[in-house]
Amino acid sequence: MRVAVLGATRGMGREVARRLAERGDTLVVLARDAGAGEAMATDLRIRGARDTAFVPCDLADPTTFAPALDAATAFLHQLDAVVVTAGLFGTQEQLEDDLDLCARVLDVDFTKTILFCEHARTRLLERGGGTLVVFSSVAGDRGRKTTGLYGATKAGLSHYLESLDHKFRSAGLVTITVKPGFIRTGMTAGLKEAPFAADADDVAPLVVKAMDRAAPVVYTPRIWQLVMLVIRYLPRFVMRRVGF
Ligand SMILES: NC(=O)c1ccc[n+]([C@@H]2O[C@H](COP(=O)([O-])OP(=O)(O)OC[C@H]3O[C@@H](n4cnc5c(N)ncnc54)[C@H](OP(=O)(O)O)[C@@H]3O)[C@@H](O)[C@H]2O)c1
Repeated sequence: MRVAVLGATRGMGREVARRLAERGDTLVVLARDAGAGEAMATDLRIRGARDTAFVPCDLADPTTFAPALDAATAFLHQLDAVVVTAGLFGTQEQLEDDLDLCARVLDVDFTKTILFCEHARTRLLERGGGTLVVFSSVAGDRGRKTTGLYGATKAGLSHYLESLDHKFRSAGLVTITVKPGFIRTGMTAGLKEAPFAADADDVAPLVVKAMDRAAPVVYTPRIWQLVMLVIRYLPRFVMRRVGF
């Protein structure tokens, strides 16, 4: 496959990109930091990617989206898939206490991510379809005390991604929503681990398998699918009482 990855410099994006590299895919690293992006492109080439390139793209700056995706398409000749793992995080307390940070997280994780996806899906549809993989979160599946603000961006993002899949699957666009639970990455460093905590390299194989199978939703680890099935149906009076 010929894949552009936004967020490959760290965390789960890096592991997904490495997994794709190891099977010989051609990869473009879309990143805001040239040093980290170039280093990752080299890393992926060493790991077996057919070819790689770094292309600048800042998820906080929508003026970079079209040039980045055009440059990625030119390098790849044909864009088969776009993976978006880039995102920001703040705990509920951090976001409640710092409304500037809150505004940045709401903006980048919701508005800017969706704008980027609109640019990506347009280009994929132009070549007859492809795969758009976007990292949302289990935090978007239910309003919870501990993740209300960050989770709101993921709820909106999941809603948007589901609608894309309904609307464009028949035109050849497969949209995959990835919903991780607690994963040990830089994003969660220092936080108290939630149940079923996993590592980024546990997530990557499930994501690549979902890309191969065109699965619309992937919970990682898988146990979260069952957990969220239960949580979604818990009555509000229970949700008010539990600290989850
Ligand atoms: N970790 C978890 O427990 C967890 C759980 C559920 C969902 N998620 C979601 O999964 C995704 C990946 O999380 P992660 O834990 O792998 O995060 P991470 O380790 O913090 O990595 C985040 C990636 O996003 C990139 N990024 C951030 N802002 C960017 C910007 N403005 N422009 C371009 N790239 C930017 C970072 O690039 P730099 O190297 O330039 O900083 C980095 O490559 C996120 O959407 C997150 O919300 C994570």
